[in-house]
Amino acid sequence: MVAVDAATLEARRRTGSDRVETTLAALFEARPPAAPPLEAAMRHGLLMGGKRLRPLLVYLAGEALGADDEALDAPAAAVELIHAYSLIHDDLPAMDDDDLRRGHPTVHRAFDPATAILAGDALQALAFEVMARTRHPRLGALIQTLAGAAGRDGMVAGQALDMAAVGYAADATALETMHAHKTGALIEAAVRLGGLVAVDEDDPRLAALATYARAIGLAFQVHDDVLDVTGDSATLGKTSGADAARHKPTYPGLLGLDGARQKARRLAEDAVTALAPLGERGAPLAGLARYIIERDH
Ligand code: IPE
Ligand code: IPE
Ligand code: MG
Ligand code: MG
Ligand code: MG
Repeated sequence: MVAVDAATLEARRRTGSDRVETTLAALFEARPPAAPPLEAAMRHGLLMGGKRLRPLLVYLAGEALGADDEALDAPAAAVELIHAYSLIHDDLPAMDDDDLRRGHPTVHRAFDPATAILAGDALQALAFEVMARTRHPRLGALIQTLAGAAGRDGMVAGQALDMAAVGYAADATALETMHAHKTGALIEAAVRLGGLVAVDEDDPRLAALATYARAIGLAFQVHDDVLDVTGDSATLGKTSGADAARHKPTYPGLLGLDGARQKARRLAEDAVTALAPLGERGAPLAGLARYIIERDH
């Protein structure tokens, strides 16, 4: 597989993010809001920044299996809607109690905790509405993928494990389970959604994509833990050092900083290896695996 260079990947990242930005902004246009402060809080949490990595995964996975970008717009937006909701709730005083997100005050700081809870609730419902509107022939499988990743077997389960682990030293198995759920599940869903737009559920390339996604999903959160130690708040757009301050079990805590970096590198390599059945069409996804463990925010 010929690797895509950094400039090509960056250009692709920008077009993916422009596309999803347009889709997401359109959700707020030309409609009188039933509850204006709620809509303002939703816009704040959804539209102000973010790397838009999960939508990009939808686009790249879909394109790798031959889907058109137009057919990928709705799932790309839906997965970002779930992600934005998860961040708003993650930052709440009852959870991580953070003040800064995507370079701006968190939603509960800019508004209030009740409005932040409701904005998250509404963004989650909107995700499924956006998906349902597509009338895609595999809509049932698409919705099942997103719901499964968001809920009690996915991100929300991971968040529950995270909250229960505060103050405890997690072993490798517990930490991997927590990370795979709270972050990996939605990343895996993004990749599967892109694939499912293109091909049927029994297409063997979906299994290759799933192996890739599992590896980058965990690598993403390992690197997030590393950045919490090594990054600065201005670059991260969120408060650095928050994990240690809140006594969260993390990969640098378990393996040390170098050990965590090595773990992320190994996972990215596993991810690239898994793409072999996709041939040249997997190259952008391979580039993204490397970006995930090299990014500075
Ligand atoms: C942050 O995700 C939360 C985690 C799952 C670690 P991102 O790093 O993708 O956050 P944004 O979307 O770019 O703000
Ligand atoms: C959050 O993990 C994962 C989510 C489900 C939102 P973190 O708590 O580590 O995310 P950050 O560091 O606040 O972005
Ligand atoms: Mg958290
Ligand atoms: Mg957090
Ligand atoms: Mg974190």
